[in-house]
Amino acid sequence: MNTEPAPSRRRFIQSLPLLAVLPWRLCAAAALPPTPAQMFGPFYPLRPDPAAGNDLATVDGRARALGTPLSIVGRVQDTAGRAQAGILVEIWQTNARGRYHHPHDDSPAPLDPNFRGYGRDTTGSGGDYRFRTVMPVSYPGRTPHVHFRLSRSGRELLVTQMYLPGAAGRQNQRDGLFMSVEESARARLVGVEETRAPGTLRFDIVVDGPGNR
Ligand SMILES: [Fe+2]
Repeated sequence: MNTEPAPSRRRFIQSLPLLAVLPWRLCAAAALPPTPAQMFGPFYPLRPDPAAGNDLATVDGRARALGTPLSIVGRVQDTAGRAQAGILVEIWQTNARGRYHHPHDDSPAPLDPNFRGYGRDTTGSGGDYRFRTVMPVSYPGRTPHVHFRLSRSGRELLVTQMYLPGAAGRQNQRDGLFMSVEESARARLVGVEETRAPGTLRFDIVVDGPGNR
């Protein structure tokens, strides 16, 4: 008696292992890799101002801070690509001379009284945030970067740093913190120039924590 399955049935049986793997492969392909975390650093404000707003460089309605104006825009999403609304995004960075507006920064570089050094924005329904600031610069031991902290209802989701692209980021390859990130993930920490909005960097962020579920 022939117990062999018919050819069409045999093909189906032979494909079962592939069918078992395929959904997982599709899910894995669809999942967004989370933005790598980076160290907090010592210069987060001692008392972050809840009214700081998302413009670090404008005083009395005019952009008075020293340095090259920079806009940073981005979208916060979870690993499934779902926009994350209501996320508090905080940034802090050096002024255009390479000094933090922080009492523990003992750099001899001057403070800029017209630069706040710290700002915050809350993502809207599309997960979008926006800042107006100035280009960060290098200081001893560090390539230019902007610190980011994301939280929801006081619960921290991610602390990371954004680096500069192109010539402005030419020192990235000598920065120990940047290079400590797995090579394949480094590009996700580098802002992308918005070709249609000169002076703007896009920094989309993927959080691995609890999202809008
Ligand atoms: Fe820093």
